[in-house]
Amino acid sequence: MLQVKTASIALRATARNVTASRILAASMSTVTEVKKITVIGSGLMGAGVVQVAAQSGYHVNMVDLKEDFLAKGEKIITSSLKRVAKKKYADDAAGSQKFIDDVMSRITLSTNSEKAAAESQLVIEAIVENLKTKQALFKALDAAAPQETIFVSNTSSLPIGDIASATSRLDRFAGLHFFNPVPQMKLVEIIRTAETSEDVFHTLATVTKKMGKVPVACKDTPGFIVNRLLVPYMMESLRLVERGDASMQDVDVAMKLGAGYPMGPFELMDYVGLDTIKFITEGWYKSGKGLVGDKLIAPSPLLERLVAEGNFGRKSGKGFYSYEGVGADKGKK
Ligand code: 3HC
Repeated sequence: MLQVKTASIALRATARNVTASRILAASMSTVTEVKKITVIGSGLMGAGVVQVAAQSGYHVNMVDLKEDFLAKGEKIITSSLKRVAKKKYADDAAGSQKFIDDVMSRITLSTNSEKAAAESQLVIEAIVENLKTKQALFKALDAAAPQETIFVSNTSSLPIGDIASATSRLDRFAGLHFFNPVPQMKLVEIIRTAETSEDVFHTLATVTKKMGKVPVACKDTPGFIVNRLLVPYMMESLRLVERGDASMQDVDVAMKLGAGYPMGPFELMDYVGLDTIKFITEGWYKSGKGLVGDKLIAPSPLLERLVAEGNFGRKSGKGFYSYEGVGADKGKK
């Protein structure tokens, strides 16, 4: 009995020591000082990340392949900043303009990703969801950027470890998953692979908090937290409608009024992009670790048809609902 008691005290002491040493390690782990951030990709997500970073005081390089892509990204940022300024400086036109000018003055546009990465402490990639393209980009950046520079991907569907494998900095590579619309959505998922260092994790937590976001941590698992729960929910809503159990309008009303969601699943799929949902589920179904062949994410004929017809949701003017003539970021018809 005495032995058991001694053993359990020893165990508790060991557990305390482990906890204490973890806390000590966490508090001792250094945080890299980030002054300049490079965001590669100036689409909706990339532009949103550039905006929130510049709004919180960081100097940001926004990089894309062509000048006209950058011009589109710049337009996304200015129109979003106007929305923010309208609330912040309701009757103060000069204050509003100064706010917009200040934020824009911290953003540099570039088509040279290697030069941009070389002068940054953090590189955030938000380009096309293609593993080979991302790997090729990071391989080139790995040769150009200092060894301390942290690389992150905003991928929503590809394994972070697979992207990181193209580089020689596995410890300084992580996932940083933002949500659409980036200026409005508070959450950021920080994805740690087995190799991601404590320093990198704490640096990313510090940077995202400075951006006004709430970071959560997740392992490198398909869908991380949000999409792992959200995407099967979307697919189930498609199957409800495909079976004729309910109309998509009623499913949307039900989830808004019965579950308190800001959008119903069909509105949200239109918002995220039907091609994106198809791409995510297809990847997991065919090759995602632990989800191969999973019925929850099996292809949906309705989704397949709409994507084949080029109806991707808001961005193409039509998805489950029609947005023609009301603007991609406005209401539905
Ligand atoms: N820039 C700046 N502010 C914006 C904005 C933008 N692009 N979009 C919306 N806002 C702000 C508005 O100014 C407004 O601010 P206020 O409440 O302080 O006045 C607020 O957001 C609400 O906007 P609206 O009044 O225009 O419209 P809604 O009330 O209908 O809200 C919405 C729009 C914020 C998009 C809301 O419907 C919502 O939260 N929808 C769910 C979005 C969601 O779930 N996103 C995650 C998708 S999953 C994902 O991104 C992961 C990926 O990997 C697939």
